[in-house]
Amino acid sequence: MPYTQEKIITLTVAYVKETLKDAEGGHDWWHIYRVWKLAVRIAKEESVNLFVVQLAALLHDIADSKFHSGDEELGPRLAGNFLTKMHVDKQIIKHVDAIIRNMSFHKTFEEKRFNSRELQVVQDADRIDAIGAIGIARAFNYGGHKNFPIYNPHIKPETYLNKESYKSSKAPTLNHFYEKLFLLKDMMNTKTGKRLAEGRHQFMEAFVERFLKEWDTEC
Ligand code: ADP
Ligand code: NI
Repeated sequence: MPYTQEKIITLTVAYVKETLKDAEGGHDWWHIYRVWKLAVRIAKEESVNLFVVQLAALLHDIADSKFHSGDEELGPRLAGNFLTKMHVDKQIIKHVDAIIRNMSFHKTFEEKRFNSRELQVVQDADRIDAIGAIGIARAFNYGGHKNFPIYNPHIKPETYLNKESYKSSKAPTLNHFYEKLFLLKDMMNTKTGKRLAEGRHQFMEAFVERFLKEWDTEC
């Protein structure tokens, strides 16, 4: 007997919590939890398959390539194996696989291979969790985890032209605001995403402005 959708979500939550128990603080279960909640919230205002949205939100960072020597296949493979074990419908597994392969920021350097309303919802949720107060905390936690400097006035932000240079950057964390985080508000797919991004964006701008003033001991 196949499981109910509700049961599958409960089992997915347990699987993700267990798999990410030692993850970096910005990519741990709580990042997944926030993206899941945001995705459900955004989905309520869009006409989408809520089961696909929830599974993709829950599984999107199950094995992020930046923590697995650049392996971009591991995450989709683990997600696919898990959903197959849960006897999830093949079409749904295929859709979840396409979403998690195509929603990452570094995919914006490549030609778009797949799109769906469900992808747009989960992508917006993931991007909203990268900005605002949470986004600031996550960026500095990631920078600390990688031992990047917090700021260096001699190293200017870059415009990355391809995914390799973006992914191998060791730039100070403050540069990441110019290189990615400030760009996200204009990349939102949905109305709700745009609305939520607005306030978070302003908060980050105020933070960086104040950070630079304090750096120059102006306040
Ligand atoms: P995605 O999860 O869409 O692939 P990234 O891998 O670029 O996006 O980043 C996810 C999050 O990890 C960012 O929003 C940020 O919090 C953190 N992060 C990634 N790269 C950096 C960096 N170079 N400096 C600081 N934080 C980073
Ligand atoms: Ni994520």
